[in-house]
Amino acid sequence: MTTTTLEHHLEAQQAAGAISASLRRVLETTASACVRISQLVGQGALGGVLGSAGSENVQGEVQKKLDIIANDTLMAAHQGGSVAALASEEMDAICPVPGGEACEWLLLFDPLDGSSNIDVNVSIGTIFSVLPRTGTGPVTEAEFLQPGRQQAAAGYCIYGPQTMLVLTTGCGVQVFTLDRNSGRFLLTQSALRVPEDTKEFAINMSNSRHWAPPVRRYITECLLGKDGARGKDFNMRWIASMVADVHRVLSRGGIFMYPWDKREPNRPGKLRLMYEANPMSWLVEQAGGAATNSQQPILDIQPAALHERVSVILGSKNEVERVTSYHNEEKQGV
Ligand code: AHG
Ligand code: MN
Ligand code: MN
Repeated sequence: MTTTTLEHHLEAQQAAGAISASLRRVLETTASACVRISQLVGQGALGGVLGSAGSENVQGEVQKKLDIIANDTLMAAHQGGSVAALASEEMDAICPVPGGEACEWLLLFDPLDGSSNIDVNVSIGTIFSVLPRTGTGPVTEAEFLQPGRQQAAAGYCIYGPQTMLVLTTGCGVQVFTLDRNSGRFLLTQSALRVPEDTKEFAINMSNSRHWAPPVRRYITECLLGKDGARGKDFNMRWIASMVADVHRVLSRGGIFMYPWDKREPNRPGKLRLMYEANPMSWLVEQAGGAATNSQQPILDIQPAALHERVSVILGSKNEVERVTSYHNEEKQGV
C-alpha cells in the first residue's frame, strides 16, 4: 500500500530540481481545492449543488451550480499565493490576483468538466494548466496566449468512484488517489503509459453526418471491424466528460476525438484549447501518446484568443497518426 503523498512527490521533484518551490505551491493549492470540490460533488442533492445556476457563461452555455461553485473554490484558494492571474472556462476575462504581480505563474482551468453529467451522477472533473509569466507588471490576456508546449504543469482531478489526480510536470505522468480518511492524495501510479495501439474509439456518433470525410473514413473502418480494411473489431465508448474519456484512454489506451464538424463551419471544434485540449494533450504526450488537431500537434498551436476552440484527436499514437494521415491524404487529393 503506497504511502507517498502528493506533497512527498512534489517535495522530491523540487529537491531534484524538476520544479520550483513556487510551482509546488501552485499544485498543492490546486490539489487541495480539488479535494474540496470532490467533497461538494459527493454531496449531490444533499449539498444543494445540482441543477442549473440559471446563468450563461462566455461559451454561451447555461452554467450549472457546480460549475460556479467549483470555479469559486479554485479562485478563493489561489488568492495571495503563487499565481499572478487566473483564467477559467467560466469567466469572460482573466482575473489578476491582487498583489500577485511578482508571482511567476498563470493558472488556467475548466473548473467542472462534463457539466451535462453532473445531475446524472456520471464522472466529472477539474482540468488545470500552469503557464509561466512572460512579462512583468499587470498581467494581460496576451500573456496567457502561449502554446501548450510552454506549460510548466498540467493535470486533472476526476470525481468518479475514486477521486484521482493525474499530473505531469514534464517528468512523465503520475496518478494519485484520494484517501478520504486522511484527505490526502496518495501516489498510485508513478509512470502512466498509453499503449500505442488500441481497439477502442471515443466520439459522439450523433454528429457523424456532420464530420469531414477523413473522420467518416476512419470511423467507418472501425465500424467495419475485421470485415473491413482494419482487419480487427473495435469497441466504442463516449462518456461526454472529456476528463473521464481521457482518463480511460490514459489508463488502457484508445483514441478520443472531438473533431471539426460542419454544424458550425467557422468553429474548429467544441473543446477549448487553453484549459481542456492543451493540458490533456501534454498529459497524453508525456504518457507516450499523441494529440493533434488533425493537422498539427495541439501543443504547437499558437493561441489567438483565451477561449478559442480546437479540433481534438488524441490517444494511442498509431491511431492518432492514422487519422492525421487520412487528413493529409485528403489535402493532397490522394
Ligand atoms: P464542459 O462540461 O466543461 O463544457 O465540457 C464538456 C465537453 C467535454 O467534457 C466533453 O468531451 C464534451 O463536452 C461532450 O460534448 P457532447 O455533449 O457534444 O458529446
Ligand atoms: Mn470541459
Ligand atoms: Mn466546464
